[in-house]
Amino acid sequence: MHILTVNLGDRSYPIYLGEGLLSRTGELLKKAGSGKKVGIVSNQTVADLYLDPVQESLTRSGFRVIPIFVPEGEEHKNLKSLSDIFDRLIGERFDRSSSLIALGGGVIGDLAGFAAATFLRGIPYIQIPTTLLAQVDASVGGKTGVNHQEGKNLIGAFYQPRLVLIDLEVLRTLPRTEFVAGLAEVIKYGIIEDPQLFALLEANLEDLLSLNRGLLEKAVAASCTIKARVVEKDEHEEDYRSVLNFGHTIGHALESLTGYDQFLHGEAVAIGMAQAATISRREGLCDDKSLERILHLIKGAGLPTDLPSGIRLEELANKMEVDKKSVGGKIKFVLCAGIGKTRFHWLSAEDIIARLASIQKKVESENR
Ligand code: NAD
Ligand code: GLY
Repeated sequence: MHILTVNLGDRSYPIYLGEGLLSRTGELLKKAGSGKKVGIVSNQTVADLYLDPVQESLTRSGFRVIPIFVPEGEEHKNLKSLSDIFDRLIGERFDRSSSLIALGGGVIGDLAGFAAATFLRGIPYIQIPTTLLAQVDASVGGKTGVNHQEGKNLIGAFYQPRLVLIDLEVLRTLPRTEFVAGLAEVIKYGIIEDPQLFALLEANLEDLLSLNRGLLEKAVAASCTIKARVVEKDEHEEDYRSVLNFGHTIGHALESLTGYDQFLHGEAVAIGMAQAATISRREGLCDDKSLERILHLIKGAGLPTDLPSGIRLEELANKMEVDKKSVGGKIKFVLCAGIGKTRFHWLSAEDIIARLASIQKKVESENR
């Protein structure tokens, strides 16, 4: 088992990473000093697969466990599900010594985390992420929240978990498309911070896609380490944490424009990263070789790199403007300066789509 730490003073917490850890949940929670009453927030799919080992382990360690189910899907990461969770917590007489476990992907993690952040002004919570995306990104760093009909993650709080428990074995039941979408975030860490991780992915992509144990552990550990270091530098995204948005400005706008049902988050981010890297090349920041390696790795993972044909760039621009991260009409756009280095440029949505239009024109003329 690897133990990483997110160092945030008195809110520091461990990330346990290994295989077969679900059956050690009780022991690890006890070590973290959790009270006896524990709610496990999950959905039916994940609970059918993994609730039993977690619940058994907790019961063995003397915890009283209350499973709390929310319906499956991003559309249920909303205020209604939050309110249903509160109803259960109140009904079961949860108090400030009780805690919540998020057992599932990023949807469950964000929702349960926000419930914990706000119930009784904050109770402890534990992340047990079961998708690759949640293991390398959503479970670490304390961003919690729900969607509003006007936009994703518009209601939320920064609230750190007490511990993160990553059991790599659970990835064996994850649909391949979900695994590959999670890989987009791992590739992102390589591009923004870690040439060695990037090279590891290039050299071992096939084995990683076959869920090779050692490689998975290396890739997830390296990703969590980078995320932890970024969060330690800038917990509340006042400055450097924005580096994690590489590929996300275009990716989020694309997800929103296509109604969240054409692309998984990681797929949209993959397109966003490919476009951001291409813009970086054109701005003279990124060299040809690095751009080629980035596009090759994204494609090799089975992820898309091109904007869908027929997309209306003005509509994409509108979506970028409503992004909660735009300030005074300008977006802090993350560019890459080769592999492992980034630059922030403040651009308007119009600046960004002008660059995308010029890339599209070139692609069309090459395809003619
Ligand atoms: P998800 O939570 O919707 O899970 C994807 C699907 O996989 C679901 O159907 C789920 O039931 C199923 N599943 C989960 N684990 C499984 C397993 N081990 N085996 C089989 N099926 C399994 O999707 P996601 O990609 O994990 O998370 C996306 C969400 O994460 C979005 O809401 C996004 O906003 C959020 N997110 C948050 C952060 C953050 O920092 N808080 C970062 C990135 C993404
Ligand atoms: N997923 C981006 C962040 O945590 O900041």
